[in-house]
Amino acid sequence: MEVYTLANGIQIPKIGFGTWQIPDGELAVQSVSYALEAGYRHIDTAQIYGNEASVGRALADSNLDRQEIFVTTKVWNDKIGVEDTRQSILESMDKLGVDYLDLVLIHWPNPAASRDSLPWQERNALVWKGLEVLYQEGKIKAIGVSNFMVHHLEALLETAEVMPQVNQVMLAPGTPQKELVAYCQDKGILLEAYSPFGTGTLFENEEAAQLAREAGLTLAQLALAWSLDKGFLPLPKSTSPENIQANLAIEGLTINPQAIEVLDQLQGVKGQLDPDQADF
Ligand SMILES: NC(=O)c1ccc[n+]([C@@H]2O[C@H](COP(=O)([O-])OP(=O)(O)OC[C@H]3O[C@@H](n4cnc5c(N)ncnc54)[C@H](OP(=O)(O)O)[C@@H]3O)[C@@H](O)[C@H]2O)c1
Repeated sequence: MEVYTLANGIQIPKIGFGTWQIPDGELAVQSVSYALEAGYRHIDTAQIYGNEASVGRALADSNLDRQEIFVTTKVWNDKIGVEDTRQSILESMDKLGVDYLDLVLIHWPNPAASRDSLPWQERNALVWKGLEVLYQEGKIKAIGVSNFMVHHLEALLETAEVMPQVNQVMLAPGTPQKELVAYCQDKGILLEAYSPFGTGTLFENEEAAQLAREAGLTLAQLALAWSLDKGFLPLPKSTSPENIQANLAIEGLTINPQAIEVLDQLQGVKGQLDPDQADF
């Protein structure tokens, strides 16, 4: 699998397997196992997904060497200090059955529960410190953020000792987030594209279907080509063996600049939730 190289030199497979909304248990084990068999070497989970233990079982069952697989998790919103962050990551490692993590992200920048009691700038600085400690101990190979808009990144950079290497945000046809993308790319922060199919809403979009037909691609291929063309790292999720396999067949996919423009403007596909208004 092709890779991107993060600002700190760590290599990250160019496409990752998303696991949000795959319930813990047999389905999660089966889906991740199938993804690994199909050739994915990058798994994206999170503490809040509740499926880290199942991801861990699939990793163990695969018999692949630990270094062959890139594993990401995300620190949930209820972590607000250095020590609880650190502890929660050690627990994630335990559930995942690994002794290091490839990438850990702050999941959201402005949790609703602490919004009125602790300024998000302070909370993020503390959680970031928790990530930095484990990064410096070598327990995490790369650290980053998720759902951070430019103002959240600017605030974080005021106190960060280690630059975030990744920002994982909603990037899909209709949600190109151009200002945020330009800011991150200028700072050498890799953009991971979550919900590359708009959590499936893309598949109901007639305009996108028409473009796909014209390009001789499936809708999934069209969206992944859009993402890769922009230098993003897409994280498609699926529990269907056929779709898991299909989403990996990305080599040589190209779309023309006009189609990219049209996809940038696409209406009707689920977009980025405002992290300062989210009710969780
Ligand atoms: N950081 C964050 O806050 C955040 C937020 C959202 C998502 N994410 C990450 O991004 C990942 C992906 O996003 P997502 O889960 O919102 O969904 P998504 O990948 O945009 O879309 C998944 C949907 O598309 C369908 N699908 C997948 N491949 C297909 C194909 N080739 N043809 C037809 N249908 C296909 C899936 O159905 P089947 O399962 O039936 O194939 C499912 O209904 C997540 O799992 C998670 O890892 C992160």
